Amino acid sequence: MTTPDVFGEARLGPLTLRNRIIKAATFEGMSKGALATDDLVEFHRRHAAGGVGMTTVAYCAVAPEGRTERNQIWMRPEALPSLRRLTDAVHAEGAAVSAQIGHAGPVANSKSNRVPALAPSASFNPQSMRAIRKASAADIERITQAHADAALLAIEAGFDAVEIHLGHNYFASSFLSPKLNKRTDEYGGSLENRAKVALGAVRAVRDAVGDRIAILAKFNMDDGVPGGFWLDESLQVAQWLERDGGVDALELTAGSSLLNPMYLFRGDAPVREFAATFPQPQRLGVQLIGKKFIRAYPYQEAYLLESARQFRAALDLPLVLLGGISQRTTMDQAMAEGFEFVAMARALLREPDLLNRIQAEPTTRSLCIHCNKCMPTIFSGTHCVLA
Ligand SMILES: Cc1cc2nc3c(=O)[nH]c(=O)nc-3n(C[C@H](O)[C@H](O)[C@H](O)COP(=O)(O)O)c2cc1C
Repeated sequence: MTTPDVFGEARLGPLTLRNRIIKAATFEGMSKGALATDDLVEFHRRHAAGGVGMTTVAYCAVAPEGRTERNQIWMRPEALPSLRRLTDAVHAEGAAVSAQIGHAGPVANSKSNRVPALAPSASFNPQSMRAIRKASAADIERITQAHADAALLAIEAGFDAVEIHLGHNYFASSFLSPKLNKRTDEYGGSLENRAKVALGAVRAVRDAVGDRIAILAKFNMDDGVPGGFWLDESLQVAQWLERDGGVDALELTAGSSLLNPMYLFRGDAPVREFAATFPQPQRLGVQLIGKKFIRAYPYQEAYLLESARQFRAALDLPLVLLGGISQRTTMDQAMAEGFEFVAMARALLREPDLLNRIQAEPTTRSLCIHCNKCMPTIFSGTHCVLA
């Protein structure tokens, strides 16, 4: 088989993308009132104009208690007109647009949301200083159905795809984790039981939308947490996802926003900038224990490739390689190794027009230095502090 051109057209489920490069979700912090603002529309229009095949609107929660903060979009009819403006603006630039849908589970900020966060087991969130409630079977059923409803709303809003969040120890991912899931009912214990929430959400979305839009899932290969979800189990769950036929592609991610946030990012740990986003006394706490919690990991180009190769070997399903992709040679390598798509986040925050320039001049180098200072900007309008 010939290696596809990363800038050539590609099928993704029922969609044809103009190229194989996806702007990965980066929570934008531009959704005051939990609606898409003009800034959010412009953010995605710019990325579309910059040459991506598809941009991803970060984190559209399926339920109000599933937000990581109060001003995060949650999928409800009231959000439709603003989302429609966003999808129209992206389409006018020739790109497709995906909505990342999910439930933050234990990562939700219950203080900001003013409703308790939900998780497989009761615990405490030191970031919001609030108790986390154990999800009942009825909660799980409601949240599963909410994924289907959110996907139907996404169709109405003009999205071409949804990306179901199955990573980062959000709701579905926290059920997969043997560390976070201590249940003794049908959702805990065996891997089969722990995978029910993730598989159920995907199935509900597929049943609701059929082939009307593409369905991706952002799926954790490993949590980066001792005793957490790891490759031996995630390979099996990925095979179940493939068997079920619910996803058109899997985007392979890693890490835990709850227990080890930097594992996904690698590069510098912006402890001081992150602490500054908290009021006192949490600010002092974050400054004191920040280095332990916000642990730095060395950055290298395509740092998730080694793990992702194991998924490529075990699956036929189209895969999206993510993590530290910033140059043409890496994109070409991903294609040569059988990945159908690549996803990029920080390099495109640094330079939204990077892809146009790489396409024109393949030796173009990204200016992103993985300082990760874009991360704390999610609270005030996500941007690269160097741009
Ligand atoms: C500022 C910022 C916000 C992010 N927000 C989200 C998010 O809302 N949902 C998500 O799944 N990933 C989020 N991510 C992770 C990215 O999608 C991506 O997985 C990660 O940055 C690794 O890709 P990269 O090396 O190309 O940056 C975020 C990343 C950054 C830098």
